[in-house]
Amino acid sequence: MAKMSGAPVSEGHDERRFLIVTIDGPAGTGKSTVAHRLADRLGLQFLDTGAMYRAAALIAVEQEIDPENGPAVAEAVRRSEMHFDWTTSPPRLLLGERCVDGPIRGDEVARVVSIVAAQKPIREVLVQHQRRIADAHPRLVTEGRDQGSVVFPDAPVRFYLDADVSERARRRIAQLARGGAAVDETKVLSGLRERDRIDSTRPDGPLIRPHGAIVVDTTDLTLDEVVDRLEEHVRTELPDAGLRP
Ligand code: DC
Repeated sequence: MAKMSGAPVSEGHDERRFLIVTIDGPAGTGKSTVAHRLADRLGLQFLDTGAMYRAAALIAVEQEIDPENGPAVAEAVRRSEMHFDWTTSPPRLLLGERCVDGPIRGDEVARVVSIVAAQKPIREVLVQHQRRIADAHPRLVTEGRDQGSVVFPDAPVRFYLDADVSERARRRIAQLARGGAAVDETKVLSGLRERDRIDSTRPDGPLIRPHGAIVVDTTDLTLDEVVDRLEEHVRTELPDAGLRP
């Protein structure tokens, strides 16, 4: 992976072949949708690393492994043949032959995913996996919590999306209401705060603003406005990267 994430532009990094854009930030900033739309506009591929942590949580739940048992969950993840189907947009996530895009969005996964994502052995497996994916798909918009800080610290453009926690809760409530779910607003807000706390205080790959990242506060912006800003930044920073016009 050093070949790509490690090669700075100034050392003849060939951005027409290798181009990683990272987007990190807490839940409820619209990261996933923004990353997918940005990738489409620029003609890059899209990697949702949160889906990989969710799939690890699903594996723990279904195989009845204690989510705090990092080594056991990591071993099960290693054996799971986790991979994306790159022929669809966004890419489908599979465990072996089985698409898990639905099950990874379930309540039980949401309940344990922060615990699973805090385990060092699991992060090691998934970080390595993400770098391997980037070797095979070197023109990528990748989103998560540690993409610009740990996984691809030398990516030529790195973003950090943020928003007020109350606005993030409002978005989550609207999303749940659209899905027809009964919504307890206090629970949503406290759930978000708890997830933020776990994600940003874990010792391994915590949610931080990567040094040198472009910070975008999305509180008062629509998704398209966020995508517009990010697109403008990438095109300005990388005029010769062979981006989709
Ligand atoms: O973005 P999301 O809500 O789908 O992420 C699910 C969980 O995985 C969340 O608790 C944060 C964690 N995660 C992580 O620790 N590192 C990443 N690169 C991506 C997600």
